[in-house]
Amino acid sequence: MRNLLKTGLRRLAGASTVRRPVGDHTATVLAIATQKGGVGKTTTSVNLASALARYHGKKVLLLDLDPQGHVARALQAQINPGKGGLSDVLLDESGEREVLDVVTRTEIPGLSVTPADPGLRVTEDLLTSRIGKEFLLRDALKVTRTWYDFILIDCPPNLGNLSINGLVAADQVLIPCDPSPLALSGVEGLVNTIEQVAGRLNPEIDVLGILLTRVDGRNSKLNAAVDQEIAGRWGDAVLPVRIGVNSSLAQAQQEGRDIYSFDPDSRGARQYRDLAEHLVQAVQGSGLSPA
Ligand SMILES: Nc1ncnc2c1ncn2[C@@H]1O[C@H](COP(=O)(O)OP(=O)(O)O)[C@@H](O)[C@H]1O
Ligand SMILES: [Mg+2]
Repeated sequence: MRNLLKTGLRRLAGASTVRRPVGDHTATVLAIATQKGGVGKTTTSVNLASALARYHGKKVLLLDLDPQGHVARALQAQINPGKGGLSDVLLDESGEREVLDVVTRTEIPGLSVTPADPGLRVTEDLLTSRIGKEFLLRDALKVTRTWYDFILIDCPPNLGNLSINGLVAADQVLIPCDPSPLALSGVEGLVNTIEQVAGRLNPEIDVLGILLTRVDGRNSKLNAAVDQEIAGRWGDAVLPVRIGVNSSLAQAQQEGRDIYSFDPDSRGARQYRDLAEHLVQAVQGSGLSPA
């Protein structure tokens, strides 16, 4: 019966099995997520991905799950126009498409990305009626992950179907949080969701840490209050690296370039390099990389 289902129905549907060459890498998949917008998810995704490629010689794929397409915009001066989008892959009924099919290169050696895909907005809703909807991205990364050392996923600012797909595909989650009460409650909501994902969908998921972003050195009173609150709730989950307010990061994004081609000596550039170093050490040091 099983055989009949596998071969017979497939033939009837006219589907053919696509054979793709398998690479010799085993990517660590890192989701950058939280449901609050404007806290530095995209800035972190782009510049962390770039630092991993430029300074650690890693092969990196940055995947944009946000319909707003901010990754492609943030790198628009350095990106080859791509064809297709992630929604083609996620909605494909044959289940044979891979993220690899829609990857496009950047002029940063070692860094590829997925193109902006406004179609992800309707995909979010269309996924609701799909069987196994939470696993579509994970399945579409099976071969893709053999071609990269790191796959970073820039998640949308909500905890809908797309973000859940990101979390189910991830080995690790990085949670950016700026020093504001709203961002703190965003972390709370995400941690609850990660606990449910760990219990039901992806037992291997782990939290790399909470990354404090847009920290304003001049506002030490607020920083201290937020530090205290975060430390009280999540203790050592807060990463030792933090990202200060730095206008070069905002200007680079505006110009469509990563911080290392825009202003490599800026404080933001140094801090994202430190974050890349932390991630590489964490993956090597504690066997975070999947077997
Ligand atoms: N450390 C920072 N210093 C100054 N501006 C920043 C910093 N991080 C992000 N920004 C700016 O804040 C805005 C929101 O950042 P973004 O990364 O797009 O957030 P998200 O992806 O979470 O919505 C952008 O204009 C970005 O350039
Ligand atoms: Mg964003």
